[in-house]
Amino acid sequence: MPTLQQYVTDIVSAAFSAAGFDTSYGAVVFSERPDLSQFQCNGALKAAKQYGQSPRSIAEAVSVQLQQNTEILSNVQVDGPGFLNISLTDTAIAAQLNQYAQSEIVPQDQNPQTVIVDFGGPNVAKPLHVGHLRSSIIGDSIQKLHRALGHTVYGDIHLGDWGTPMGILIAFIQREQPELIYFDPTITDGYPAESPVSMADLERLYPAGSTLLKEDAEFQRAAQQATAELQAGRPGYRALWNHFITVSEVGLKDNFKSLGVEFDWWYGESHYHDRIDPLVEKLKSEGIAVESKGALIIPLPEQNGTEIPPLILLKSDGAFLYSTTDLACVDERVHDNHANQIIYVVDQRQHLHFTQVFSAARLAKLCPENVPLIHAGFGTINGSDGKPFKTRAGGVMRLRDLITMVTEKATERMVEAGMSQEYPEAEQKEIARKVGISALKFADLINNRTSNYIFDLDRFVSFEGKTGPYLVYTAVRIQSILRKLKVQPDTDFVMQAPTDVERGLMLTLSQLPDVVNATLEGLTPHTLAEYGFTLAQEFNRFYQQTSIIHEQDTQKQQGWLALSLFTLKQLTWITEILGMEIPERM
Ligand code: ARG
Repeated sequence: MPTLQQYVTDIVSAAFSAAGFDTSYGAVVFSERPDLSQFQCNGALKAAKQYGQSPRSIAEAVSVQLQQNTEILSNVQVDGPGFLNISLTDTAIAAQLNQYAQSEIVPQDQNPQTVIVDFGGPNVAKPLHVGHLRSSIIGDSIQKLHRALGHTVYGDIHLGDWGTPMGILIAFIQREQPELIYFDPTITDGYPAESPVSMADLERLYPAGSTLLKEDAEFQRAAQQATAELQAGRPGYRALWNHFITVSEVGLKDNFKSLGVEFDWWYGESHYHDRIDPLVEKLKSEGIAVESKGALIIPLPEQNGTEIPPLILLKSDGAFLYSTTDLACVDERVHDNHANQIIYVVDQRQHLHFTQVFSAARLAKLCPENVPLIHAGFGTINGSDGKPFKTRAGGVMRLRDLITMVTEKATERMVEAGMSQEYPEAEQKEIARKVGISALKFADLINNRTSNYIFDLDRFVSFEGKTGPYLVYTAVRIQSILRKLKVQPDTDFVMQAPTDVERGLMLTLSQLPDVVNATLEGLTPHTLAEYGFTLAQEFNRFYQQTSIIHEQDTQKQQGWLALSLFTLKQLTWITEILGMEIPERM
């Protein structure tokens, strides 16, 4: 089923051909001046060169062809230097849209792939903060979108569980409690199942340890030693580290659950450990990795005239780094998981890191050229001072507190609006949670991911404007209309030819498949979020000009219900991809 834009493109292409020009000039876009026409084609301007004719005369010739098609086209005009302005008859719009409403709202990809989305990326022993929020929200929408189109998707959290922070923790605990069994080198198994540290302990110990590291050279050496011994497999350290992981994962899983974000894989950096030695050996023997000042590096070619610093594989003390792990990880994802595409949803500030890893992976032939490695970076969430968002006390805002904050704000708003007040308390709470989360997610996704944005809770949770609650409320409003009229969601009503009241909504509804393509192409959830907002706006405009519930003319009422049903179907699909939940009622 072609989209409306494609449908018109086909008609215009045929007209170009009938007038003696190549069909490729027939592409149309939705007009930027909807007051003049619905679609626009600038093919005549492009064709002028090839045919040595003025764009205007080409456009005139095509227009003569198009004007014969009065059943489908209501208005064809040549404008300016040779633009073609084209509008459809209302019957044609309704016919196309009814057909679209009968088929899948977004067609499945004909070439399903295995896609790995690397996102979330929290670190063991550190609380989840707003920096991980963007990765989680954007990454989740990217994985959901791919899944909805029929791809096999693996979402991987890539937990930071293996570097110096782990050594710092071990060394710091050893300092505080040297008597613990984990530090006795003569013991190698039979460690207690119970963790000696809680999440709260870890959150205190890690910052304390990192502070000490900066002041105390001796402690720094101890932490480095502990990191190396942990990685080399010292049993007591491994056992203690296992507790860190388990304890952290419980907290993380709880946080991600309240955010409604799920991962298929909880692999940590440690997961790739066993691949590192053989990989390093291979790269050395192939001459891809070379020694430099005691370290082992991979020199990288320049890109578009810019020099790329070498990737450091091993430091001079033999320790490997974040990049080494990421390189081994690419290898596993390509060779063991058969990824056709890997998308990294990670802070924009790590762009150089990924440039290096990707370049090294290609150089070492760990990843074939036809498997795209994509860094879908994102900007920061800032406070009103323009600096990265902090709590009032100046600390890092934790995700858990943030969710509490948005839920409270949503409750406040609902009380103000007198919304849901007569419902049971448990339901009210659940609605507030859904509204709060939708506010948080939409506020993030509506921004181009590479831009920074300012955290403004009051604005995010408003029921008016470009917000999650506005979208959610629109869907709930449609549900309520359907409930009042006892219409089942799968009812087959037919949309009637639009008047000025319905036309805008119908033309908008026709665009979703194209919007989804654009979202996928740029990995830009904001494209879809923006469309969701326009759709909600168009629906509310339509709704305000009609009286669906009291309409006496059955055909008219059913036509409007068909439109409402289709709008709800799209809004439900979109909000699902964006990770928002729609309550039954509000
Ligand atoms: N743990 C890292 C951080 O907090 C993010 C991990 C991103 N993924 C990756 N494959 N490097 O910065």
